[in-house]
Amino acid sequence: ILLNHILPRNFPPLKNSTFLKAAWGEVTDHVPVWCMRQAGRYLPEFRETRASQEFFQTCKTPEVCCELTLQPLRRFQFDAAIIFSDILVIPQALGMEVNMVPEKGPSFPEPLKLPKDLLKLRKDVDVPVDLRYVFQAITLTRHKLEGKVPLIGFTGAPWTLMTYMIEGGGSKTMSKAKRWLYQYPEGSHKLLKILTDVIVDYLVGQVAAGAQALQVFESHAGHLGREQFREFALPYIRQIALQVKKKLKEFSLDQVPMIVFAKDGHYALEDLSESGYEVVGLDWTIQPKVAREKLGKNVTLQGNMDPCALYAPKDKIGETVKKMIEEFGTQRYIANLGHGLYPDMDPEHVGAFVEAVHSHSRQMNKN
Ligand code: CP3
Repeated sequence: ILLNHILPRNFPPLKNSTFLKAAWGEVTDHVPVWCMRQAGRYLPEFRETRASQEFFQTCKTPEVCCELTLQPLRRFQFDAAIIFSDILVIPQALGMEVNMVPEKGPSFPEPLKLPKDLLKLRKDVDVPVDLRYVFQAITLTRHKLEGKVPLIGFTGAPWTLMTYMIEGGGSKTMSKAKRWLYQYPEGSHKLLKILTDVIVDYLVGQVAAGAQALQVFESHAGHLGREQFREFALPYIRQIALQVKKKLKEFSLDQVPMIVFAKDGHYALEDLSESGYEVVGLDWTIQPKVAREKLGKNVTLQGNMDPCALYAPKDKIGETVKKMIEEFGTQRYIANLGHGLYPDMDPEHVGAFVEAVHSHSRQMNKN
């Protein structure tokens, strides 16, 4: 049923597989690099393309998603593309209204208040139909990329999506969502389970549509401690990796590397290294050497320059990058920032970051 809606496609052959090699733990001649939010408002061409349409309307227009995904690749030698979309398309598919308020961020007019509100969520979510627009964007982008670099698909992790559905938007404390964990643990697990099931089909659909790697964003891990993470986040994160791999096999689809990024989840790094993901993403608050120690040899690390380091002069960016690669080492490593790019960043400095990763890592590999 899942794949009926997704047509077979003959994609152009991949010309730069450095990112995929690093993700799978194979040897690379340079460190691959991409940036979270590389398709974003720091690019004038992004602002121009986005200006004419509401945010989620943009997400629902495959041609525009494709264009926005390709824009950063025309400027910089990124080793991967990430599809333009948003994690909040899942709450929408579950029947919730979500608005993107300019200058403010996402807003849910009717957030979940009590466990009985779970009854209002759609029970009959048909992922290939309801999220078809994302799959169409992925397929189109895979063609338009012409094999230049691999295409990453993504999702929010269950806990992070739960926080948005209960808080109704951003929050400093996450106290409404965390109240659920303490007051309604059963209701919380019910919601996390509903999200996990949709996410699994969503990720498998993305691979069927052409995604060559998948990233799971647990952006709000920092609000949980070790115990709560183990109860309310980790089991679902594991379940997603396990089920996605199982279903890809069932559908005779090639396996793709999976990345888990639990922002501010220091306490969870050992757990994450054994959670079924090939790559663990890191925010900038963890030292590369400490992360390597905690995570062991069987995962690739991704990250983790402070995004704000891009405000520094270009030569300083080069120094920071060099130090970062020296600490991570050039293998089993994908360079990235510790979180997304901000709208006021200078595109030239992003270019300097990418160049520095390539040149320093090539140099180090020669020595
Ligand atoms: O380039 C890329 O990284 C791909 C596209 C992408 C977007 N959102 C586009 C977007 C990705 C991977 C996301 C993921 C996402 N969305 C996350 C996880 C990553 C993270 O930041 O921790 C989260 C938490 C969201 C929810 C979300 N979407 C918020 C909180 C906001 C507002 C914040 C802001 O920067 O204004 C968005 C809007 C959004 N999603 C924008 C973009 C480019 C900016 C709004 C716009 O283009 O008008």
